[in-house]
Formats: sequence, structure tokens, C-alpha cells
Amino acid sequence: MPADLATASTVTGLLQEIADVGRDTTRGGYSRPVFSTAETDLRAWFIEQAERRGLDVHTDANGIIWAWWDTVGGTRRDAVATGSHLDSVPGGGGYDGPLGVASALVAVDLLKARGLRPRRPLAIAVFPEEEGSRFGVACLGSRLLTGKLDPDKARRLKDPDGNTFADVAAANGQDPRFIGADYKTLQQLGVFVELHVEQGRGLADLNQPVAIGSSILGHGRWKLSISGQGNHAGTTLMKDRNDPMVAAAKVVVGIRDTARKYQDARATVGRLQPVPGGTNVIASRVDLWIDVRHPEDAVTAALVEAIGLNAQVLAAEEGCAASLGVESLSPTVHFDGGLRDRLRELLPAAPVLATGAGHDAGVLAAHLPTAMVFVRNPTGISHSPDELVEDRDAEAGALALADSLAGLLGQARQIG
Ligand code: GLV
Ligand code: MN
Ligand code: MN
Repeated sequence: MPADLATASTVTGLLQEIADVGRDTTRGGYSRPVFSTAETDLRAWFIEQAERRGLDVHTDANGIIWAWWDTVGGTRRDAVATGSHLDSVPGGGGYDGPLGVASALVAVDLLKARGLRPRRPLAIAVFPEEEGSRFGVACLGSRLLTGKLDPDKARRLKDPDGNTFADVAAANGQDPRFIGADYKTLQQLGVFVELHVEQGRGLADLNQPVAIGSSILGHGRWKLSISGQGNHAGTTLMKDRNDPMVAAAKVVVGIRDTARKYQDARATVGRLQPVPGGTNVIASRVDLWIDVRHPEDAVTAALVEAIGLNAQVLAAEEGCAASLGVESLSPTVHFDGGLRDRLRELLPAAPVLATGAGHDAGVLAAHLPTAMVFVRNPTGISHSPDELVEDRDAEAGALALADSLAGLLGQARQIG
């Protein structure tokens, strides 16, 4: 291994290299929306890191970066793929996404240092817009890759400033005409294993550094628009108002109360936007986005229907109208049992844990066996600057990933 790689080849060392990229001095933590300067800097950083390791790197039509460790003279099929994402939620932690990417790079170093020469190709993937924090659709890159998202719909998606995904992608060197299902790339992949910071307290409570994922909770996003009458804050008597902000406040409480009636349900309003949004202006409309999750997709549907009906009633009480539309939907995913059992053999001490968070591994699961490895988060907090991974756990995670990949690469041969 070249000396420069040896020094950088810890997860902590790699994350340290990007520790200043996309820091959010207002919200705290990191804001790295897709195609922001921060996210494109991280993509450039990853490409440089992958190339330094001798990997063959290219960015596909959907903006997914692939870094290939090819077999000698081999073809790209039945690959063992790993990776994650580099974008973040607004004011997120430093591990959600980058931990999986850095661990993949370190795993390659560990495998090379062991003298392993894989007989199956290995690929590291970096997926764009996993969080959906800019264009609203989570796992945008993997949804496009797998044909789960209509390219026309994707091209028309708008960010909060009104820029379309097509325009922003084009400004970042991607030709939006060519986004969409890419079965050729999918056919090159045999399995996908995503390492991720755990976004709960499962491992902390079990006092274990790494776990194997069993399932991803079904989840979706809906946009609720409440329309009223925009007006003057000083001249409009309280009795004369059709204020959608008041309706929205009732609706938010209603969503919490409705979700509490469904066991295991989660419903969140994390984003709310009054239009036009002025201190002395009664809003004409309030848009709010609802994230709903439940293990059973039928229950999610029933809960969302109840939320929608309740919103109409509450909006009407304020002389307003409400309309609800789905933005994205991901059913509950149970990871491939065979691959999970193989990982259990390779990581015998690791418990098996479910997650309530969404991941590209969940989208890919409809097309190939996928699995996840979680790394302990002592705070149990995520999507917050308080997300944490201890240094020794980060390295334990990379080691677990390397062991998993080595085992999956199967007939990997010891050399040297
Ligand atoms: C992504 O982290 C999600 O679960 O929304
Ligand atoms: Mn996340
Ligand atoms: Mn993530």
C-alpha cells in the first residue's frame, strides 16, 4: 500500500479529511444537499480517493458514482457492491452516508493489504440525493437506476428555489435526457451491502459495535397544501380570517394524535412552508410535508387516509381547503435471507437489527440480494448534529465490512 494511503486508511482519517465540507454554521452539523458545492466537493473527494486506490471510476447517467475493482481480465458481472451516499439532511450528522462511503474505501485497503485478489469484481457506489432533502424524493439515484421513478417526473422535480432537477443536473455535467432505468448496470451487480451508522439505540443497548440489518420500515412522503385567504395582519379582524397557518397548526397536532392510534406508526411534520411567508402577512397557503412509516403498508395507507380526511375537516374549520398528494412511497423491505445468513456466518458476534430509516439498499433490494451492516451510534440520535460514531467503532465497522466483502468475494485468493 502506498504510504499516503496507509496514513489515510482509517475511517476516522478519511472522515477527518471532509470534516469541514458543508458545515452548517446556522443549523449546526452538516448541510450537503445534492449538487450543492459541499456535495460536489465530496463527490470529487471520493473520486480522487477511489482513483488513488487504483479503482476504475465513472459517474453514470443517473449521477451515481461507481468505483470498480475489476478482476484480472474479468468482466463486470456478479459484482459484490458496497457504498452509500454523501448528501445529507439539513443540519445532519457527519456519519449518515459518509460513514458507509469511507468504510468502503478502507475495506478495499484492508482487502488489498491482506493480499486478496477477488475473483468477482468489487464496486463502490455513491448514490446521489439519498435523503431527498433537495428535490423531495428520497433515494432519487437508486430509484432512477432501478426504474422505480419515472425519468420525466424526476426531470420536473423542483428544489425549494424552483430549480428543476433537469436544470440542476445539467449544470452539474449530467445530461438529464439520459436519466432512468439502467438494467445493464444492475445486471453487473450480484449483491449489495451498505454499511451505515445505526440511527437508533439498538447497538448501544446491546453493547455491540456492529449489527446486520434485517429490514427497513415502510415509509413515504406526502405533501399537504392548505389554502386560505392571504391578507393584511393589521387590518384583518380575527373573525374575518381564513388563515391556513392556524389550520396547519391544528393539522400538525392532529397528525401526531392520529399516528398515536396506530401501533408502531411514526408520522412527522419536519418541514412547513407558509406562502408568501411574511411576519405581517396572513399566509395564502401553507405547504407541509408529512413523513409516515409503518411495518405494514396497508396500515400506512389507512393512516395517511385518516390524516388526509382529518386535515380536510380541520382546514374547513378555519375556512380553508386541504389537498394531499404522495411524493414517494417505499414498502417495507426484508433483506434477502440467504445473504443475511451468509453475513451472520461472516460476522458471528453481530446481532441482527431492523431499522426505521430508509436506504438505497432498500430500493436495490427489489433487484438483487442486499444487506446492511450497522455501526453503533452511542447517542442513538441521527438526522441531527448529535449523531455520533466512536472512532474505534468506525474502524470495527470497516473491518466487519471488509470481512463481509472478502467472504462474499468467495473464492478470493491469498497472494503474497
Ligand atoms: C433517510 O435517512 C430516511 O430514513 O428518511
Ligand atoms: Mn439519513
Ligand atoms: Mn443514510
